[in-house]
Amino acid sequence: MGKVFYISKNVALGLLLMAICAVITIIALSVAYDKERAKNRDDSGHGQTDNTSTPTIPTTPSTEKEPWDRYRLPDSLLPLSYNVTLWPRLEPNEDGLYIFTGHSYVVFKCVKATDLVIIHCNKLNLTSFDGHLAVLTAEHHSAPAIERSWLVPKTHYLVLQLRNALTEGSTYVLHTVFQGELADDLEGFYRSEYTENGVTKIAATSQMQATYARKAFPCFDEPAMKAVFNVTIIHSHGTIALSNGREIDTVNTISGLETKFEPTARMSTYLLAFIVCDFTYIQSTQRGVLIRIWARRKAIDDGQGDFALNVTGPILEFYERYYNAAYPLAKSDQIALPDFNAGAMENWGLVTYRETALLYDPIISSTRNKERIVYVIAHELAHMWFGNLVTVRWWNDLWLNEGFASYVEYLGADYVQPTWNVKDQILLYDIHGVFGVDALASSHPLSCAEEEVSTPAQISEMFSTISYSKGAAVLRMLSEFLSEPVFAKGLSSYLNTFAFGNTVYTDLWDHLQQAVDQTPGLDIPHTVHEIMNRWTLQMGFPVVTIDTRTGSITQKHFLLDPDSVVERPSQFKYIWFVPIKWMKSGIDQQQFWLLQKTDTNDNMRVSGNDWVLANTNVSGYFRVNYDPENWDRLLALLNSNHQALSVMNRAQIIDDAFNLARAKIINTTLALKTTKYLSKEMGYIPWDSALRNLNYYILMFDRTEVYGALKSYLKKQIQPLYEHFKVLTENWTKVPAAHGDQYNQINAISMGCKMGVEGCRELTKNWFKQWMGNPAHNPIHPNLKSTVYCYAIAFGGHEEWDFAWTMYKNATVASEASRLREAMACTQTPWLLNRYLEYSLNPSKIRKQDATATILYIARNIVGMPLAWDFVRARWRYIFEQYGRGSFSFAGLINGITRRFSTEFELEELKKFKADNEDIGFGSATLAMEQAIEKTTANIKWVSENKAQVLQWLTDESA
Ligand SMILES: *[C@@H]1O[C@H](CO)[C@@H](O)[C@H](O)[C@H]1NC(C)=O
Ligand SMILES: *[C@@H]1O[C@H](CO)[C@@H](O)[C@H](O)[C@H]1NC(C)=O
Ligand SMILES: *[C@@H]1O[C@H](CO)[C@@H](O)[C@H](O)[C@H]1NC(C)=O
Ligand SMILES: *[C@@H]1O[C@H](CO)[C@@H](O)[C@H](O)[C@H]1NC(C)=O
Ligand SMILES: [Zn+2]
Repeated sequence: MGKVFYISKNVALGLLLMAICAVITIIALSVAYDKERAKNRDDSGHGQTDNTSTPTIPTTPSTEKEPWDRYRLPDSLLPLSYNVTLWPRLEPNEDGLYIFTGHSYVVFKCVKATDLVIIHCNKLNLTSFDGHLAVLTAEHHSAPAIERSWLVPKTHYLVLQLRNALTEGSTYVLHTVFQGELADDLEGFYRSEYTENGVTKIAATSQMQATYARKAFPCFDEPAMKAVFNVTIIHSHGTIALSNGREIDTVNTISGLETKFEPTARMSTYLLAFIVCDFTYIQSTQRGVLIRIWARRKAIDDGQGDFALNVTGPILEFYERYYNAAYPLAKSDQIALPDFNAGAMENWGLVTYRETALLYDPIISSTRNKERIVYVIAHELAHMWFGNLVTVRWWNDLWLNEGFASYVEYLGADYVQPTWNVKDQILLYDIHGVFGVDALASSHPLSCAEEEVSTPAQISEMFSTISYSKGAAVLRMLSEFLSEPVFAKGLSSYLNTFAFGNTVYTDLWDHLQQAVDQTPGLDIPHTVHEIMNRWTLQMGFPVVTIDTRTGSITQKHFLLDPDSVVERPSQFKYIWFVPIKWMKSGIDQQQFWLLQKTDTNDNMRVSGNDWVLANTNVSGYFRVNYDPENWDRLLALLNSNHQALSVMNRAQIIDDAFNLARAKIINTTLALKTTKYLSKEMGYIPWDSALRNLNYYILMFDRTEVYGALKSYLKKQIQPLYEHFKVLTENWTKVPAAHGDQYNQINAISMGCKMGVEGCRELTKNWFKQWMGNPAHNPIHPNLKSTVYCYAIAFGGHEEWDFAWTMYKNATVASEASRLREAMACTQTPWLLNRYLEYSLNPSKIRKQDATATILYIARNIVGMPLAWDFVRARWRYIFEQYGRGSFSFAGLINGITRRFSTEFELEELKKFKADNEDIGFGSATLAMEQAIEKTTANIKWVSENKAQVLQWLTDESA
């Protein structure tokens, strides 16, 4: 599944910052990534089911669990193929219920004699045949009779107890007829409602990963239970039906149209997809593969699918070459669904996307929107081989699947947009982000044992930042020390060996090892397996300290909070095999392997003006610290000739320094010193890294006397960047040509306006005024809209606000509406903010789904924060009852409001709020409340320890 990258720049920034706070747990970042997965976690799996076809048979309590009480299927039966027919109704029935009906035949083989048939089935009403919920036949002989059959809602099973055992080696056919609800729950076969031209429309679509295929039809719903699926969909005239295979036949029947699809390749159930809607498409073919982009007719007519179509062919071609394996299917459909909640899903041959992850509108979409489309497509298409063709046996290895796609998506994206330098961005989007979470004592290893993951809720938890981003980072490191050609060779051999089958992660290590063994001259100190175990079986990562005075090198488990206690033991004692790429005075040196806690490398002993920089381009997953002299030499280098280092290394020096300071390994002033050279820095990646780190300082100090000095210092630092873009864009009339510049222009304007750089206020106000003068023509470039709207509203009064409100109400494009909704929270006028808070709980003004996000935006604003806090406290019961239950964004609300909390008084208020509402409760925000208290405590401590020296340093620097 794809990760949700850009909720919004600022929210993401906030989240990354929160991760820097020592006490935040995994949850913070899982918001940024698989947002919707995390949200669904609350109600995924084993809740109440409405299987009432037959009463469940109470089992006598015993210590030995019955096979149907276990979450994993027994290993006695293996599916070979299915015939599945589904008929979704896009109109409600007489009871007002949207349903689908269907029937299925599954041919399976008995590989171990058993008198039980256990197959997944969830929330389906099954038709009875002679009192039984299914019909069992055998292909060439007779099948045992069914003694009794029942459903087990807790483990999602249909169970048949047979009179006699099935014969080992024989095949049987199980037939079921069923009816399910086409609910709007985004799980299994579900209904998506959206409006087009004011008309509400319904589409039937699906999301099977991880455990929802069983909600569409009875099936052996585990990734290793691969089979061939012959799908038929019944649908009405005027609609189209799609599934994984190519449609081979559509015939008229009394029920409507019946579309049959070619048999699928041998595949896992979680990759199935079924769609009925009235969309249209554009197409092309690439080496015999049919490529289609599907979306609402209007979107296709407006050309919004063109960009996706343009990049899909080349991306597929890139992977064919990279994997050295042809695209495994005859067609590649990609479809944009309105109100689709996961970012995207890699269903084999029919990838589903949120509209914003696939559709590009040259007039409305920003460069960031465009970039996201390329990343998400590249991510999902990478799975067509890695994940779909070869699939991990069980969900405990999900990190390999998602980490891999999250790494190679940068390669695929780079191939189609070679001028964007997208490969560098893995630092911002994955590595720095996950460093924050993985540096907590509460982190967890990438890999876990198969037995630890069995319930749907446990499976859901695998979709975490650690799996996606740390997975990507360690695979990138592996590829770096093996070299890309060796990595690709091993990969290709792995994919070709296990095509249409399943693996465990060590199979990949074995094939990479073979590639290593076949490469003369490639020398690694241990096997791939041994090296990687250190990174996948123990959590966290090391900080490597290089003392250039002696050449000594040491490693230590890096923890953001030096007082935290690691309770999880590691068989490797938190020692890693660390591949250190490094340079001396600008010249790349031979890679050094740190294999124990301490070692020495005489080569790293330097003096005079020579400097050492380790972990070049952050090719390894670790942080670096140096002796004070070398830090000074690196700082001097940044100040005199920062371009001697790559943008990634400049960003890394800043990010490492700030985090080492948080962990009390170096002084806070040393971290601040890494920002001194920024007045000369024009690169996006270093700036973004710096702003992300400095934002914590802004939050902690923007209500204190430190802020005056901080503001003048940052104004001094950002001013040259602002001027640079003013010139580059010919007084803001052009769009910078380079991709990174387009992003950094946004940083320049938003920080420029925030820090009071001359001209910024007028710039944003005038642009907005022009638009207000002619609402039909918006002169603001899509890249800059969010920023310009925000500052124009912040600097403006109620005219600007009311204009934004009108444009918000009239917006026809979702992304434009959400930019405006966010920007209206930027006003500094208390009564406007209070009125907006009131609007947020009025569903006729702000859609219910957007309520908590809107309050959060208001809380981000320094003036809005106390207002939002009062508002939420005063209406807790109402908000909780109307909006809170089970909603993940609710935890985000508590997190967001309390982000600035850093005084004893705020801590008291927070505790009182908790005590006062004990009776109402906090639902899904219970953990967030605890975290908020811990975080506030940590903030108070940090401020008390750092305030004086930060103020002193800033005062000296801004003088
Ligand atoms: C599905 O189609 C394949 C290929 O035509 C066939 O071999 C298989 O038996 C079919 N499955 C079922 C359940 O009929
Ligand atoms: C599956 O469908 C095909 C084509 O409709 C049919 O020939 C075959 O008999 C079906 N398989 C079973 C097991 O019913
Ligand atoms: C399944 O059966 C129950 C009990 O009869 C009923 O309440 C429910 O609506 C049915 N579901 C569907 C989708 O028909
Ligand atoms: C798609 O490619 C065509 C042909 O190269 C080009 O003219 C068009 O501008 C591209 N469209 C988009 C949206 O990139
Ligand atoms: Zn994925």
